[in-house]
Order: sequence, then C-alpha cells, then structure tokens
Amino acid sequence: MATNRLRWGHCILSDFRKTKSMFYLPEGVIYLDGNSLGPLPKAAQAYVSRAIQDEWGEMLIRAWNDAHWMELSTGVGDRIGSLIGAEKGHVVMGDTLSIKVYQALASALEMRRDRKVILTDNGNFPSDLYMAQGLVKSLDQGHEIRCVNPENVMDNIDESVAVMMLTEVDYRTGRKHDMLALTEKARSCDVVTVWDLAHSAGAVPVDVAAAKVDFAVGCTYKYLNGGPGSPAFIYVAPAHACTVRPALSGWLGHEAPFNFDLDYRPGTGIERMRVGTPPVIALKILESALDIWDQVKMADVRKKSITLSNLFIAEIEARCPDLHLASPRSSDQRGSQVSFEFKNGYAAMRACIDRGVIGDYRAPDIMRFGFTPLYIDEEDVMAAVDVIEDVITNRRWDAPEYQIRARVT
Ligand SMILES: Cc1ncc(COP(=O)(O)O)c(C=O)c1O
Repeated sequence: MATNRLRWGHCILSDFRKTKSMFYLPEGVIYLDGNSLGPLPKAAQAYVSRAIQDEWGEMLIRAWNDAHWMELSTGVGDRIGSLIGAEKGHVVMGDTLSIKVYQALASALEMRRDRKVILTDNGNFPSDLYMAQGLVKSLDQGHEIRCVNPENVMDNIDESVAVMMLTEVDYRTGRKHDMLALTEKARSCDVVTVWDLAHSAGAVPVDVAAAKVDFAVGCTYKYLNGGPGSPAFIYVAPAHACTVRPALSGWLGHEAPFNFDLDYRPGTGIERMRVGTPPVIALKILESALDIWDQVKMADVRKKSITLSNLFIAEIEARCPDLHLASPRSSDQRGSQVSFEFKNGYAAMRACIDRGVIGDYRAPDIMRFGFTPLYIDEEDVMAAVDVIEDVITNRRWDAPEYQIRARVT
C-alpha cells in the first residue's frame, strides 16, 4: 500500500442531522435524486460570491497566481482523491466525465498496443460506450468493443483483452460490480482497467489504490453536490502517471504551458491529464460542497445509506405490490440507489414529483430513487413512501399531463 495515501478527516462521529442542515432543501420536497444532481450546499452561494468579488473582481487576471487558481484542479482533485482511496497527487479535475472516459480509454489502449479488445458491459452508461465507439473509429486500428452482460464480465477477462472499461454502479438498477475481484483478475491477465465511479464517489467506499486500479474517472454533480455541470475527475495510478500519453494534448497538460512551445510535451504526472483552462467558479462551488464531506466518514455514510435503502425497499414492497424491485436485494451488491420497475413508471414519477417526492425515471420502466445520508433520513423515507403509495394505489399517475415526456426524464 502506498505511504502517501490520503485519509478521511479525523472526525469522531458522522452527524447527519448537522450535514442535513448544511443543504438548501426546498420546503415540501423530499429529494431522492441526489444520485443524478446533488442539492445546493448552503455555504456555496456566499463562498462563491466572495470568490467572484475578491478574486475575479479585485484581482482580475492576477488571481491565477495570487488566488492560486492554477492549483485548484489538483487541490480539489486531492480532496476527491481522499473519497476514492487515491494516492495524493494522482487526481485532477476538469472537463466532463465523457471527456475523461475518452482520455482514460485512449491512454489505456496505448498501453496494450498488441491487443485489440475493449471489454465492457451493457450496464455501462451509454456515453461511455459512445466515447469508446468514437475513439475506436478515430484510431482505425481494428479494435473490438466486446460488450457482455454484467454477470459475464469476469468470464470474459483473458489475455486477448487490452482494456476493461466498466462503471462500478449501474446507473439504472444500482447493481454494483465487485471492483476488487474484477480488477484482480484483469491484472492477472495484464488487462488495463478503467473504472467509471460516477455512481460510486460519495455513494460507496472506494479504494482505487488498494484495488490497484489503473484509471478511474467520475463526475462531481451527483453524490458530491458540485452543482450542474461541475467538472469531472480522472485518476491515474502512480505506476503509469509519468508514462501514459494523453490523447487530448491541450496546452495546460503541457510540461511548460507558458513557454508556448510549438510542440507538445506531456506535463509531470497527473498534470498531463489537464486539457484547457479550468472552470474556476465551478471548482469553487465544489470546494464548498466538499467541506461537508469533511464532516463525515464514508463507512458511516454507507451504513446509513444501506439502512435507508432497506427501509425503503421493505416499505414499498409491503405497500405497493405493483412495483417490482429492479435493484439487487442484497445491499452488498447495490450502490446507493434503489430502482423499481413499473409499467407506467414515467407517469408515476411525474405524479410523485408533483407531490414533492423527487426521484427520476430511466427508460423503459425504471423508477429510480437515490439515498443520500448527508441530507435524507428515515423520516424522509417514510414520508416519501406515503406519497408513492398514494400515487400507485389511487392511480394518481393516470392523468393526461403526466403522459407527456419532458426532454429530461
Ligand atoms: C456512469 C456515467 N458515466 C458517464 C456519464 C456522462 O457524464 P457527463 O455528462 O458529465 O459527460 C454519466 C452521466 O450521468 C454517468 O452516469
């Protein structure tokens, strides 16, 4: 195990009543969609206003140096790193998750030039598959994307595979891969691993260093509460950080951006995974959101999320027999979301949202609910189930206004 691993804050007990009070949660709303977009941390507005006024306003361009804007991407990266078990100095922020998937996969493929198979599964998020398809087309080197059922990934890891690219927690059902076991098998076959932690970071304990993951990527607008479109992160294992070739060779990943050389030379370590100008304001929001994470221990978050999810499953199954559990029943195999199948799931979710219970819907028939202990408690779960029971039992969903699909579901 690396010696410079980041550690959780030295808090004694995670006080979830306190963390709940640190979010702005609209009156009359029970928010079960933090797996898609986390709520607004109360401190964010003042923190960002101050940064805008004092740094952008007063310092103008001097803030890149004087307010250390240029170090934000790695500074915030280290704070995210502590949530996913990364070694210090091996996570950097920037761009969107789709871009980071592309970057990680491109670098990973270069590490196994003699192999042509990308192993993934059909539970992966479509954008990850689309980015892989686009990359394979651009490379035009005869790569094959082998997309298997999630339960068959293990059996498909062999010496023909160049890269195994998986999302740990399935966005629809919350099904959780065994990252440790899959990565171990991949390593035994010399397969490079790329893990998408979009539904893991801040949801379940992750230890990329212990698992010996090669690349990991994730977003920060879900469980980490960084706000809509907040920047993604990328982790590169120390063993590769100074040797991988970044496919997106932007100027800020250059060894000396302000030399303005005409030829690209990759920067040192994780710096080479930067691309262009960092989103400073978005990183400031994220900084204030991460302050809340400093108050809790991930083990406590996980324990509470299992308690809340199990309570929700038991209550829904007892009171809404028309809803069928789509998530694994065993909490070991689940992330921090619970999904139920219901034929009229879209309309039912719209009816729930109108009554203050916000979850979301994933085609073709999934009603998805996220359990986020930082601001959801048992009382919320019980109140949400009351609303869902009313919507299902009394067919509240069967109204014309709930049948029309909005652009975002
Ligand atoms: C697992 C996973 N991967 C990738 C993405 C795409 O992220 P982005 O829109 O930030 O590129 C998402 C978006 O929700 C996701 O859930």
